Amino acid sequence: MSLAISHTGCILGIETSCDETSAAILRDGELASVVVSSQFFHDKFGGVVPELASRAHVRSIVPIMREALDRASIGLDAVDGVAVTYAPGLMGSLLVGLNFAKGLSLGLGIPLIGIHHIEAHIFSALLEEEKPEVPFVVLVVSGGHTLLALVNDVGNYEFLGETLDDAAGEAFDKVGKMLGLDYPAGPEIDKLARTGNPEFIKFPRALMNEENYDFSFSGIKTSVLYWMKKNSPSSERGGGWGMVRADIAASFQRAVVDVLVTKTLRAAEARGVNEVVCVGGVSANSELRARFKTECTRRGMRFYVPRPLFSTDNAAMIAMLGALKHARGQSSDFSLLAMPRLPLVHRKENA
Ligand code: KG4
Ligand code: ZN
Repeated sequence: MSLAISHTGCILGIETSCDETSAAILRDGELASVVVSSQFFHDKFGGVVPELASRAHVRSIVPIMREALDRASIGLDAVDGVAVTYAPGLMGSLLVGLNFAKGLSLGLGIPLIGIHHIEAHIFSALLEEEKPEVPFVVLVVSGGHTLLALVNDVGNYEFLGETLDDAAGEAFDKVGKMLGLDYPAGPEIDKLARTGNPEFIKFPRALMNEENYDFSFSGIKTSVLYWMKKNSPSSERGGGWGMVRADIAASFQRAVVDVLVTKTLRAAEARGVNEVVCVGGVSANSELRARFKTECTRRGMRFYVPRPLFSTDNAAMIAMLGALKHARGQSSDFSLLAMPRLPLVHRKENA
């Protein structure tokens, strides 16, 4: 079944859950503009500093929204609804976007549509020309989440599995730190891995052959650490890691990609679903995208992944889910609270 939308008017999307301030305009289901401002100053701290992140959102939210309106050639009076991330994320950062959106909703007399950030990632795939149809199996891989779900419709999700410890993006960031790369290290590992040998070190593929759809990435991070300690060039042989850094990056990335692709496709096969979607920051990874494409084609499945701009945090996906909810007559009231932790789908035993 198609999830195509039309005649939803202009939806303004706002995203401030972490370290990206973003605004977007979706007009009748088509993206009219998207502006993303990334807070690169966190690099030197090795991770996002919450207090600095919220201050930066306060400074940039108005100019970013204005730019999104300008690029879409509309004024605020043309906006029919405001969709905003209210969970999960950094409390201070969420509060900036949510309260700004409440102000707009109140001032303009338009609906407020609260959006769950991870749910928005799922529908980021609809921002592309080729759109997945429901039901589809989705792998969400970001800095804070790694989960597999079956999507039957907007708001109708079946939990399949998730990471039991670190998220895939977190593993990329931590291994990147060991390799001396700046935060967030995912894109850097991706680049470095292109010049390395992915067969150089056989890192563990945790839970890959288990009968469940759960993941675990803390073990591989420890394996990389031990391998680097044991083979440190500085101790006996002198000099730096040189080209070996690329081999470590490529071997680590190959192991993570093997597990993610194997388990996702096994889930799709078991559910008899031919539509496979991969979203979230890590879905920008070139090896992951390429492998999914090859393996899905081989199985006669269709694979969808948004372009990198829509894989990482952005307001276009917030506006897209806002429009889908608006089309279904769903909105939020002003009692909506920012929630730093809020699972999208619960494990079956807890449901
Ligand atoms: O979805 P996202 O932008 O923010 C969260 O909601 O977490 O994901 C950020 C994560 C970071 O861990 C970053 O290192 C990772 O996505 N990432 C990548 C790539 N681009 C971003 N990981 C691997 N390869 C990439 N090309
Ligand atoms: Zn995200």
